[in-house]
Amino acid sequence: MSFKPWLLLPPKLAHDLSPFALNLIKHMVTSTNDDWQSFTWRNLYFRNPLGIAGGVDKNVEQVDAWHRLGCGFIEVGTITPLPQGPNPGKIMDRDILQRAVWNKMGFPNKGLEWAIQNLKKLKRPFYVPLFANIGKNRNTPLEKAAEDYKKCILALENFVDVFVINISSPNTKNLRDLLAPDSLKPFLQEVLSSRRQNTPTLLKLSPDLDDDTLQNILNVSLAANIDGWILTNTTLSRPSNISFPQEGGLSGEPLATTSKDFLKKSLRFLGEHRQDKLVISTGGIMNADDVQERIRMGADLVQVYSTLIFEGPFFFKKTLKCLKQS
Ligand SMILES: Cc1cc2nc3c(=O)[nH]c(=O)nc-3n(C[C@H](O)[C@H](O)[C@H](O)COP(=O)(O)O)c2cc1C
Repeated sequence: MSFKPWLLLPPKLAHDLSPFALNLIKHMVTSTNDDWQSFTWRNLYFRNPLGIAGGVDKNVEQVDAWHRLGCGFIEVGTITPLPQGPNPGKIMDRDILQRAVWNKMGFPNKGLEWAIQNLKKLKRPFYVPLFANIGKNRNTPLEKAAEDYKKCILALENFVDVFVINISSPNTKNLRDLLAPDSLKPFLQEVLSSRRQNTPTLLKLSPDLDDDTLQNILNVSLAANIDGWILTNTTLSRPSNISFPQEGGLSGEPLATTSKDFLKKSLRFLGEHRQDKLVISTGGIMNADDVQERIRMGADLVQVYSTLIFEGPFFFKKTLKCLKQS
């Protein structure tokens, strides 16, 4: 196993230092041939199906670095209309042995204006598809949540290729209530109809849904003409050998089984209605074998966050090399 000095640092410090490390590293790598199982969806070309998940580049500050590091697509955000800080208290931790991450961040980000300024600096179209994960501000009441998502869509639609509606984070109070089918229908109708350019829009789901609710959400979102789903966000459940606090989201290896079950069930429920909808699997994808497995199970694309904390930013290059050799 190679030396990973960042694992000697406290988790939050390693997290806060990572943008500086990425800025250095990006000058040391050149984007080479990172093609593997290239794929076209709608008019978007993915040179490989591996991307960073929501939360990795919250403020659109490392897009160039992730592209050079091999990502086939890049999701920025969660972006909220107004800048906001993190939730109070401890907001992240990791368990190196279990390869697990815990976070209670609550969408800390520099807001929509900052994101737009950074997006304006990027080559357009960018080298790989750009996704924007959008959310509501902590202080926006749930009844007005759709307004926040609409503001993000209207401001960002000239700059990104795909939107991801995030109503599945466990770290913004009551946010997941919007996934309840009765709330979801009017919410999605209002948000999706605000698009002026019909930018493809995905719904990111929570893994903490029972089968009936999942089926209902898939039906409601199909009826609203959603363009696909990201399966899944972090979980509130805890395996017995994990000692993180009860609140906050768990990710990494212990989420893998749940995330795979969720993918399997969702594809079964969707059946022939899947058609050209995009299905992205995330949750506990830690290495090349995991990538292969999710693609074999039927995911179009995969995304990672936690494994980057353990493996570092060269995860994509290393994994693509393994995948090409397999
Ligand atoms: C520290 C941390 C912050 C996250 N922030 C966000 C976020 O802002 N928006 C979001 O949609 N998901 C966020 N996530 C969830 C990830 O995008 C992903 O869905 C989840 O971690 C499962 O993937 P993984 O097991 O590869 O980490 C975050 C995850 C972690 C670990």
